[in-house]
Amino acid sequence: MDVFEAIRTRRSIRKYKDKQVPFDNIVTIMQAGKYAPSAGNLQNWKFIVVKTDVKRAAITKACLEQEWMEIAPVHIVVLAEPKKAERHYGARGARLYTIQGCAAAIQNMLLTAHSLGLGACWIGAFDEDEIWRILGLPEEASVQGVITIGYADENPAAPPKYRIEHMMFFEKWWGRIELPKRHIGHWSTFNMKAVYEGKKLAKKVHKKVTEKVKEKFRKKQ
Ligand SMILES: Cc1cc2nc3c(=O)[nH]c(=O)nc-3n(C[C@H](O)[C@H](O)[C@H](O)COP(=O)(O)O)c2cc1C
Repeated sequence: MDVFEAIRTRRSIRKYKDKQVPFDNIVTIMQAGKYAPSAGNLQNWKFIVVKTDVKRAAITKACLEQEWMEIAPVHIVVLAEPKKAERHYGARGARLYTIQGCAAAIQNMLLTAHSLGLGACWIGAFDEDEIWRILGLPEEASVQGVITIGYADENPAAPPKYRIEHMMFFEKWWGRIELPKRHIGHWSTFNMKAVYEGKKLAKKVHKKVTEKVKEKFRKKQ
């Protein structure tokens, strides 16, 4: 499965089979998290794998009682160390880069789970204090998200997505492609190049034809 295909076909899975996930797969998924980009390559994240029934039940409760979560055989809790980013980048590191890095790691893990034939879901609704208590976290750890993983027992339809035109702008907020016939030479570098090459070719052909015609006239005289 190529990357775009994995991105396009991944779904949030909320029903799981009663089947264990091989440990190798769990490690591969976390490796994918590890390879995510992070500001200054700080990698200020930790991933806690939770498999025991009691802890998964407690995490489910802490995730505002999203009951379906308990069925997933694996939960991965994604934690950040914002202080580490703060030391390098100040408040921006702690508040923005840390969250963005963990989000990139989570998405890598979701896609890898999907590519391994597993289902997964990103959980952002949770009581952070409760998760701290359940996992015995240190003060510097910040809970960024929970991922449920298991074999999918559902095949959800793709949720509606806006057309690309709704979000794709050019050069400015709400910038649209201009009509090529009105602004040819301006609307894209591709067309500018095509017009330039076309003109060059036309000049070359014109020169050759003129030379041939002149030569014919010369021979006739
Ligand atoms: C930051 C974030 C938080 C989310 N939190 C939850 C959640 O608490 N519970 C849940 O069931 N899904 C959660 N989701 C999954 C979204 O509901 C889901 O991605 C969205 O409906 C689109 O469906 P898809 O993932 O199948 O494309 C979350 C997704 C993101 C990115």
